Amino acid sequence: MKNIVILISGRGSNMQAIVRAARSEQWPCRIAAVISNRADAEGLQFAAQHGIPAEVVVSKSFATRDAFDAALQSVIDRFEPDLIVLAGFMRILTPKFVEHYAGRMLNIHPSLLPSFPGLATHRQALAAGVKVHGATVHFVTAELDHGPIVAQAVVPVLPADNEQSLAERILVEEHKIYPQAVKWFVEGRLSIDNGVVRIADEPQLV
Ligand code: GAR
Repeated sequence: MKNIVILISGRGSNMQAIVRAARSEQWPCRIAAVISNRADAEGLQFAAQHGIPAEVVVSKSFATRDAFDAALQSVIDRFEPDLIVLAGFMRILTPKFVEHYAGRMLNIHPSLLPSFPGLATHRQALAAGVKVHGATVHFVTAELDHGPIVAQAVVPVLPADNEQSLAERILVEEHKIYPQAVKWFVEGRLSIDNGVVRIADEPQLV
């Protein structure tokens, strides 16, 4: 039984998709906690309503990144996590924090990495004139939005698109690929070979 801790900053729709899939498909895991860096994150209500311990570590109240990350780490580690899932967690993390969770922290980013790291990814995509765009689930490394890629989803960019329409089309796909990637992790099927993620075949009944 693997323990999962999910970090959010806001709406938490990816967190909801993962919790729903884990429960309905009875993955061998426990959603041990949902932790937000903002007290007003909407996703905290979902966690409370679904019996998941919810914690808040308010990033604004810490003077430095190091101090916040240290406080966050001590709250996370109380839940003895096998996996940390960043689900719309809008914080840049210190290398020390990332190293502590090396190989056991996933993030979802709303672009086809390595294109468009950072913020305003849909604006970046529209400005670049790309004809496809999407989302990426990746392991977290110290370099922002650059870790080994686990899963990607592609959507077309249509002539009438704006940032919001693209975000909506991509979010639908995020809710498919993030649960899939977390399930692979929980099943012990992910490994990293020279910075490239390998996904082992599902065990077959013979
Ligand atoms: C998602 O689109 C996610 O890809 C993005 O924030 C949104 C969170 O939505 N994450 C980032 O931009 C990380 N840099 P949610 O709170 O409803 O899951």
